[in-house]
Amino acid sequence: MTPFSLNNYSGKKVLLTGDTGFKGSWLAIWLLKLGARVTGFGLPPKNLEDNFTVSGLNSRIDHLNGDIRDYTLLSDAFKEFRPEFVFHLAAQALVLDSYKDPRLTFTTNVTGTLNVLEAIRKNPGIKAAVIVTSDKCYENREWVHGYRESDPLGGGDPYSASKGAAEIVISSYIRSFFQEKNSPCVASVRAGNVIGGGDWSENRIIPDCIRSLRCNRSIGLRNPHSIRPWQHVLEPLYGYLLLGSALSGPDGKTFCGPWNFGPHPCNIVTVEDLVQEIICQWGSGMYHINESQQKSKESNMLVLDINKALHLLKWNPVLPLKKSVQFTIDEYRIEGLSEDVVFNQRSAHIDEYMNIQLSMV
Ligand SMILES: NC(=O)c1ccc[n+]([C@@H]2O[C@H](COP(=O)([O-])OP(=O)(O)OC[C@H]3O[C@@H](n4cnc5c(N)ncnc54)[C@H](O)[C@@H]3O)[C@@H](O)[C@H]2O)c1
Repeated sequence: MTPFSLNNYSGKKVLLTGDTGFKGSWLAIWLLKLGARVTGFGLPPKNLEDNFTVSGLNSRIDHLNGDIRDYTLLSDAFKEFRPEFVFHLAAQALVLDSYKDPRLTFTTNVTGTLNVLEAIRKNPGIKAAVIVTSDKCYENREWVHGYRESDPLGGGDPYSASKGAAEIVISSYIRSFFQEKNSPCVASVRAGNVIGGGDWSENRIIPDCIRSLRCNRSIGLRNPHSIRPWQHVLEPLYGYLLLGSALSGPDGKTFCGPWNFGPHPCNIVTVEDLVQEIICQWGSGMYHINESQQKSKESNMLVLDINKALHLLKWNPVLPLKKSVQFTIDEYRIEGLSEDVVFNQRSAHIDEYMNIQLSMV
């Protein structure tokens, strides 16, 4: 059982960048349940169906509209709110978009991360910061075994390279400015493809599937044989929260640095396997291989070694793929209902997830 408690967030001030995004909105819901005082910083939600909007987060947390590349604005938010915890999730998060606008991707993901680190450095009172990058930060060699935190960083496409570059900036700040005993404890987290309700991003497999299934269209698959570490969004978020708690504790300095949060090997399946499971649980639907878009520039094989988190944090991914897909489909199905209904369902899924965690002890 993990020795780190999520009760540490109760009553604490948490600044969350990227709160309007998919993972950030789920993290905001979880932090609210833990009794944290949450301020979000990010761009406005992109779609009316985004989790932030359908869960009514606008009226549940303080959200500041702002661009992470604007250091003055970000720094003012830190000065005014004086957070104790920081979770940085704001990013240009899509590989295909990074080919369309590499400059935006690099400035958002690298300069944005630099701005957050600088604001952490300049504002006293911050105990712990968790900076989200990606499994794509590794130099991908199509290994069949998992990447360890110490493996070389890299990235052929602009998104992956921006995440590798952000990791180098984070590591430099930890080594240059956050070594002193009373300085903030800072870690980076690397997770793979996450699934869950309220994600309506373009060119992501689950939103693409739901869009097609809702109007009885065949789902077009770009890279059916690509192998990805799929997991429900609650799995890595639980890891981020445990890590934040560990960083804020008496041995916080020993938890600084990079962490992988991926699924168990049985959840590492192809895009085609995942889509078959989605269709099965939706109850109907079909798919086809999109020959024209095949062999796009995404890598085919990417697996994370999660031993560090398993052993040192006692974090454990517990949802089998079937259960992750079931949560996800249920979450999309109720999105037309009221904000309270959606928020309460997200909250109930977090409770169910924690019960599964506790039952594994
Ligand atoms: N979703 C995944 O499968 C996945 C996988 C690996 C890593 N990640 C990483 O996790 C983090 C969150 O991803 P997500 O899926 O929630 O992404 P998302 O696209 O749903 O959300 C991105 C968030 O960043 C904010 N943002 C973007 N540009 C900004 C800017 N210039 N200034 C301020 N805010 C800005 C958006 O407003 C939004 O709140 C990102 O760092 C992403 O790279 C996600």
